[in-house]
Amino acid sequence: MDEVIKKRVFSGVQPTGKVTLGNYLGAIRNWKPLQEEYDCLYCVVDLHSLTVTQVPAELRKNTMDLVALYIACGIDPSKSALFIQSHVHEHAELAWILDTIAYVGELNRMTQFKDKSRKHADNINMGLMNYPVLMASDILLYQTDVVPVGKDQVQHLELARDIAQRFNARYSDTFVVPEGLLSKSGQSIKSLQDPGAKMSKSDPNDNALISLTDDADTIRRKLRRAVTDSDTCVRHGADKPAITNLLNIYTLCSGLSIADAEKTFEGKGYGEFKDAVADAVISVVEPIQAEQKRLLRDKAYLESVLKQGADKASYLAQKTLSKVYRKIGLIPRIR
Ligand code: TRP
Repeated sequence: MDEVIKKRVFSGVQPTGKVTLGNYLGAIRNWKPLQEEYDCLYCVVDLHSLTVTQVPAELRKNTMDLVALYIACGIDPSKSALFIQSHVHEHAELAWILDTIAYVGELNRMTQFKDKSRKHADNINMGLMNYPVLMASDILLYQTDVVPVGKDQVQHLELARDIAQRFNARYSDTFVVPEGLLSKSGQSIKSLQDPGAKMSKSDPNDNALISLTDDADTIRRKLRRAVTDSDTCVRHGADKPAITNLLNIYTLCSGLSIADAEKTFEGKGYGEFKDAVADAVISVVEPIQAEQKRLLRDKAYLESVLKQGADKASYLAQKTLSKVYRKIGLIPRIR
């Protein structure tokens, strides 16, 4: 029988602070079903998080929390490689090579760089500007075919494609040019306090976001305080950004369609609707929290997963990096 060669998927999340409901619904949740069809690598991108100041002890804790969360969200370590970016040194090494391919001008134009420079005006470090090159390295190192990304990462993925094509044109075919896979839910989850902004883990107003670590009472309270639109009707539409966002959260968590949800809340007030949104969110979040907690007590298991993941990733990464070194004229080390 012919062995079917699966296409490769790579994705990652930074271990910075809390993972929000937006990160989960927009990204991590979509990773689980991909495992059936693709050869997946899921990475905790700790090197990326160093582009903003981190407290070392917190970074360590956040990293292991995120590893456990991946598994709790359905990443199966027997199907996918789950690993920590800094365990595979080729990420940083390929990033240097790609730095010589990427242009200052294109990095300077990146929306996220401009946003983060504004937010961290006292720490506009080179890593912040280089962030998209390291991300391109993550992706290209594994000859990735498909990258599940949120809308906010589309520009970075475009850059990774440009870099791959530029390298291939200069040194002959070396990298697979990756395709993006936008999450099915399409639209990103917005802030509960400002439906014009995305739900961001770095939002200084804690009421704007639901964290996957929030307990049931906190989730209910934040949803009750969520801003609404001027009329009182539960309807999806561009003129109703706040209720549309809550409806998106509700339908993604309950599995109902928008039309069914609108019908359910016809003639009912926002209070009742918000409580139902809270129930739906809690029913999704609580089992994940319980499983994450259980996993975090089993350090030996998590470490065995990380070892196996890094072993697989290293093997693939080393193959690509030595090919790259050869193509650009670096002499291989004598062993
Ligand atoms: N920049 C991504 C984010 O903030 C995280 C990331 C780093 C990533 N490397 C990646 C995502 C490679 C996909 C593929 O969401």
